[in-house]
Amino acid sequence: MLKGKNIILGISGGIAAYKSVVLLRQLVKGGAQVQVVMTPNAREFIQPVTLSSLSQRPVVTEFFSANTGEWHSHVALGEWADAMIVAPATASTLAKMANGVADNMLVTTYLSARCPVFVAPAMDLDMMAHPTTARNLATLAADGVHIIEPETGELASGLSGRGRMEEPERIAAVLDAFFASDGPLAGKKVLITAGPTYERIDPVRFIGNFSTGKMGYAIAEEAASRGAEVTLVSGPTALSVSSPRIRRVDVESAREMLAAAQEAFETADIAIMTAAVADYAPAHVFDSKIKREKAEFDSIELVKNPDIAATLGRAKRPGQVLVGFALETDHAVANGRDKLARKNLDMIVVNSLADKGAGFGTDTNKISIISAGSDTPADYPLKSKKAVAADILDFIATL
Ligand code: C5P
Repeated sequence: MLKGKNIILGISGGIAAYKSVVLLRQLVKGGAQVQVVMTPNAREFIQPVTLSSLSQRPVVTEFFSANTGEWHSHVALGEWADAMIVAPATASTLAKMANGVADNMLVTTYLSARCPVFVAPAMDLDMMAHPTTARNLATLAADGVHIIEPETGELASGLSGRGRMEEPERIAAVLDAFFASDGPLAGKKVLITAGPTYERIDPVRFIGNFSTGKMGYAIAEEAASRGAEVTLVSGPTALSVSSPRIRRVDVESAREMLAAAQEAFETADIAIMTAAVADYAPAHVFDSKIKREKAEFDSIELVKNPDIAATLGRAKRPGQVLVGFALETDHAVANGRDKLARKNLDMIVVNSLADKGAGFGTDTNKISIISAGSDTPADYPLKSKKAVAADILDFIATL
């Protein structure tokens, strides 16, 4: 959603300024045009040439350019921008912004900006905790400035506490999500199940599978970047989400996943079932660790798990779109078509473990899509899971 957006990146003089390079890179990579405006002190922390090389624009610091005598128009800049982000925002810059002290180009530009403004505070814990800073942040929030809360952790001073600037990836994601509010899925609620389920045998063992959740997480990020409000019901994975539009609900077993999915499905417009749900669970969970004294272990009695997709399929209301996945080893399309009907899905994404680059843990996937209304599947070439996520959401849009 950053594509084609004009963004002012204001950098004030704090050690976290080094992270602004990564933020700038992220914004440019997302397709934004970025104009860097630095305070004079920020130049002590980071070389303007690094920033101008990455942004492909001269960095603005002074009202006048020393070489050419040219005057930099803060008014034109303020009108040009779709958003302004000040990162890092030091205590001093926040104070100046809150009180309109326009004695440098950054604050002057802020006062001329008609666009939404974001600040990512960064300072030592005592400055952060000072009532003055709290008061200035409250003033800025009341003025409509979006505050990207600092993290609690290790600080450059060696102390540990609240005041560490939010990570650049997260700041970029906040901006992305902000622009997504007028994306094609704005106002839509999307439920996604992802990852494996773990079915406990005893306190240390479980029945699981090789699903990593990558496909479901990619769809969640893509839907969020298109403006959707996403509920991601996730089995145990090593992944994290970056979009603030994703609400993640962590579950372990199929039964827990069913309960969370049913709750979210009540208000969902679209539900996409990517989870690799265990088909069976132990009938009894041992209270304590099973010992290995016996020469042979008799058996573990298993009971069938609920089919989450089919359960939602039975509860589906007109207008709700339910999408399933079918990971097959053979007769992929025929099996997919059968599942589509049996689970009352509107669409099923079929992938075959026989295809190189498709399946568990890979960063790529090769899919075919079968929809309830059509006879022929839509076949796609091998792509990154991010690109596959985009194809899936494009297809859903046609439904
Ligand atoms: O029947 P099969 O497991 O192959 O179906 C796969 C589809 O059904 C996937 O979308 C998967 O997320 C969903 N599913 C489910 N609950 C189960 C089993 C599968 O939601 N217990």
